[in-house]
Amino acid sequence: MKLPERFINESLARHWQVDETEESFERLMYHLEHKTNFKPYFEESINKLCFDSDKFKDGIIVADVGAGVCWTSAMLANHPSVKHVYAVDPSEQRLKHAESVLKHFKVPEDKVTLINGTFDKPNIPEKVDLVLLCGALHHCYDEDIPALFSNIKNLLTEEGMVLVANEHYVTPSWLVIRFLSFIKNFRRLKERGLSFTALRAPDQFGGEHWRIRKELEHIFSSCGFKANFFIHEGDLCKDKPRFYQRFGWKYYHAFLENITPCDIL
Ligand SMILES: C[S@@+](CC[C@H](N)C(=O)[O-])C[C@H]1O[C@@H](n2cnc3c(N)ncnc32)[C@H](O)[C@@H]1O
Repeated sequence: MKLPERFINESLARHWQVDETEESFERLMYHLEHKTNFKPYFEESINKLCFDSDKFKDGIIVADVGAGVCWTSAMLANHPSVKHVYAVDPSEQRLKHAESVLKHFKVPEDKVTLINGTFDKPNIPEKVDLVLLCGALHHCYDEDIPALFSNIKNLLTEEGMVLVANEHYVTPSWLVIRFLSFIKNFRRLKERGLSFTALRAPDQFGGEHWRIRKELEHIFSSCGFKANFFIHEGDLCKDKPRFYQRFGWKYYHAFLENITPCDIL
């Protein structure tokens, strides 16, 4: 599996560097609640989970894949209907700070297991009822998508589901702006090796993808999932400095229901 360079020995932005101090935790929370809409958008998605439904009555097991510093794992672990959370990430730096994040959230000990793993090797030891991909799917390369969803299918219990949260897709107007910007900066971009045919190639450093909604729908359906999309009002990354970085991005969360057995893939 190809891991974006950004996540190998990465130097984390200050707001992710949570240690035992209150100040570092306040910085994280300020980022999640004020500088971005990460926390409110995540809450909006988990509020739709209907934890009190019959299928959750015995408590659920969650896999948070691409969990980062694990603030989402912590929030889920503190929910009374959640029995256990496996938090998977390949970034040692993020997992190191995750330990402090869990403490600040006062997550009961042993309720979250931190796992060094990836989309193709999540290393989760048991079946789970919910797989969460929060802000993670747009870092998954096209060639790794089948492995990711095949792993998810193997992991999910019969009634299990996937929540894709805090994600975005780009609209046709974004594509037009990207094209115009390419024309305007033609010489500079060509020198950097960006060709006209690779306008939507994933970002070389962070591995970010610029998928349109149709492509996401195709990914989900071809991997045997029925997707239910919910679009957020407003902007997930409201601190992004440049207009063109935000224009034409739509923020969504989606619930994926497993509609074909694993062996069809
Ligand atoms: C934008 S961050 C989101 C982190 C976290 N879920 C959150 O909402 O704060 C993307 C995460 O995906 C992880 N990631 C990148 N490539 C991955 C891979 N191949 N397998 C699993 N996780 C990956 C990164 O380490 C990073 O923590």
